[in-house]
Amino acid sequence: TWTPGNIIEDQVAAIRAQVGDKQVICGLSGGVDSAVAAALVQRAIGDQLTCVFVDHGLLRAGEAEQVEKDFVAATGARLKVVEAADVFLGHLAGVTDPEQKRKIIGREFIRAFEAAARELDAERHIEFLVQGTLYPDVVESGGGTGTANIKSHHNVGGLPDDLQFALIEPLRTLFKDEVRALGAELGLPEEMVQRHPFPGPGLAIRIIGAVDRERLDLLRAADLIAREELTAAGLDRDVWQFPVVLLADVRSVGVQGDGRTYGHPVVLRPVSSEDAMTADWSRLPYDVIAKISTRITNEVREVNRVVLDVTSKPPGTIEWE
Ligand code: XMP
Repeated sequence: TWTPGNIIEDQVAAIRAQVGDKQVICGLSGGVDSAVAAALVQRAIGDQLTCVFVDHGLLRAGEAEQVEKDFVAATGARLKVVEAADVFLGHLAGVTDPEQKRKIIGREFIRAFEAAARELDAERHIEFLVQGTLYPDVVESGGGTGTANIKSHHNVGGLPDDLQFALIEPLRTLFKDEVRALGAELGLPEEMVQRHPFPGPGLAIRIIGAVDRERLDLLRAADLIAREELTAAGLDRDVWQFPVVLLADVRSVGVQGDGRTYGHPVVLRPVSSEDAMTADWSRLPYDVIAKISTRITNEVREVNRVVLDVTSKPPGTIEWE
């Protein structure tokens, strides 16, 4: 019978047999799949694994810390952190086109990961790359395995020819809920294991307009409030995702305290879905929406209006960019 314990046992044996005494690298994105895959490999081969976390500065509040502190504390994994926020924000400065944002982030991610991998490879020759490929990913891509391509992160490009690793994909036969159960069994933090899907380009595609530090901070504060209130209402598992979007290039007039304001709106975009191909807007209770709205406008400077997206997919997408 399927139990997380059995799967871990089987995978640990299989990974040990595959890897032998060789060295392994794994990219962490902050998401569930890469974290569980890394934790499993760590369980199997300990310090033969080095994890790399490229912090692009586009994650939500607390997520980088979750990787750098909680993940490490839970697994004992050796972690190399690449602080790349300045580089990413530098290249993103003034860019408003969604696809351009994605291109820049994908390109810079590969660059940063590749540089870290090269450095590590010089220290200890790396032969394997861990990927958190799930069963639905395998089916979608026609079932082939192949060379390393960091698919789980940005679905772009690949590593250069002179940096080829053999792949370890311990989640290849599993579905998302099974991966979550595995992560819990491996002792990963609840917030990491239950995290909603989050796009590789991060908050950059939830700021409509150019991305900068100040706007990221505004969005992070609003997003955190929405997440806190969803959790407090016990509704985390009722929604597939809950993007909060900052309309950074839009201003509207409001009145706060004893004066008129000219601030930005944020959009709440809670959706229900099975697989993100189609989605419906979540009918969250009005009192939860009201609480989120009140808190955001009270606590987030510059935001004076909260609106609710009531569009299904299609015709809308889940994300705004
Ligand atoms: P849309 O907005 O197309 O999103 O309805 C469908 C799902 O994909 C996620 N998404 C992305 N994930 N890189 C990713 O890794 C991206 O560029 C990207 N764009 C959208 C989105 O969060 C949703 O789960």
